[in-house]
Amino acid sequence: MIFVICYTSSNMKVLLVGGGGREHAIAWKLAQSPRITKLYCAPGNAGIADVAEIVPITADDIHALLAFAQKENIGFTVVGPEAPLVKGIVDLFTQNGLRIFGPTAAAARLEGSKVFMKEMLVKANIPTAHYRTFSDAQSAMDYLGTAQFPLVIKADGLAAGKGVLVTADPKEAGEFIAGTMSEKMFGASGDKIIIEQFLDGEEASYIVVADGANFVPMATAQDHKRAFDGDKGPNTGGMGAYSPAPVVTPEVDEKVRTRIIAPLLETMQREGCPFRGFLYAGLMIEKGEPYVLEFNVRLGDPEAQPLLFRYESDLLDLLEASANGNVEKIAPRWSEGASVCVVIASGGYPGDFKKGFPIEGLSSCGNDAVVFHAGTKREGGKVLTTGGRVLGVTANAPTVAEAVKKAYECAGKIKFEGMFYRKDIARRAIER
Ligand code: AMP
Ligand code: GLY
Repeated sequence: MIFVICYTSSNMKVLLVGGGGREHAIAWKLAQSPRITKLYCAPGNAGIADVAEIVPITADDIHALLAFAQKENIGFTVVGPEAPLVKGIVDLFTQNGLRIFGPTAAAARLEGSKVFMKEMLVKANIPTAHYRTFSDAQSAMDYLGTAQFPLVIKADGLAAGKGVLVTADPKEAGEFIAGTMSEKMFGASGDKIIIEQFLDGEEASYIVVADGANFVPMATAQDHKRAFDGDKGPNTGGMGAYSPAPVVTPEVDEKVRTRIIAPLLETMQREGCPFRGFLYAGLMIEKGEPYVLEFNVRLGDPEAQPLLFRYESDLLDLLEASANGNVEKIAPRWSEGASVCVVIASGGYPGDFKKGFPIEGLSSCGNDAVVFHAGTKREGGKVLTTGGRVLGVTANAPTVAEAVKKAYECAGKIKFEGMFYRKDIARRAIER
């Protein structure tokens, strides 16, 4: 008798971990899979509650998540944010015989440590900014005296998107080093820092799904990192995104696949930490040449919103193929045209902001756009703000200009105290 182990099933309970805009987009897409009988999300948000059952466990409480998955007989777990991945949720679930999508803790060091990431880039001979690593503040300060400005300073570990300073000002650079290494404003994440060469070009987010050896590219996307129009103001987690990104021409795409993604996956395998999951290369494209600024070990937020909006295949099939080691069997279908996400944020973000404001107009966009929730919760029949990035209004259309118009028409109908959003999302793509 021949036993065939089948790792895909048609009646599955799925647990999604996370509660931001990215996770709302993942939940929205997974909920369309005919193979999922029940979708849970921990901890979710007010929007995710419309498509999944909310589980009140925080995303980084990996032992409580394991206990829940065991109790509920979860067939597959999908992890959205980096923190539980860096903490080892994939290792923990796998050791307990549970199927899960994402990288192991060893592989997640690509995002958890910028020093590790840079070492992998050098080993794989991947183009990136020249850099130096420092583990004491005095040596870093001394180096500033001889360095060429502008330059970029990065805390080694996770810092909720705040651990990078791009500056032309030696005083500001010195203050950032003191804050990071001496005053520990990012805790142990600032024990080491990188100081690197400033690269000038256009950024793009290149995301693939890898299974350890092979990979399937997602469509291309571009994020808007700065808080205000014209790329002014402080860096944020991302104020809007669109897909596709015209800066990734077919020639650039080929270079990214052959000079960046493939050699990285080979190197990670050789180093004994093969990479499975979403691999996100943050690129700077200078005169048609892609350089890696960073790797993330998850989907981008807000890139996930326009990307999953355009994804026409079953997302569960893709994520399971990654965990099963056979992504080469998946040929994703993408909708034609473009899709755009405009993030609506709380006044003050990415600095201090107030929470708890009621949001009006959430159901006034009809079918023209989907309003993905990020920092929201439902209380007493109202939806309240709970985070810096609150909503991601996402629309698609045959052209990027039409998608932008639809997204802004919808954003204009939403109101909460202090809200703001950028008015120039995707302008680069329209002006090309
Ligand atoms: P990272 O978290 O390393 O991607 O850095 C956050 C943001 O800082 C990037 O999206 C870029 O906008 C900017 N940045 C990082 N590294 C560089 C660099 N070497 N040159 C220019 N800008 C950079
Ligand atoms: N949008 C940038 C990120 O997800 O890291």
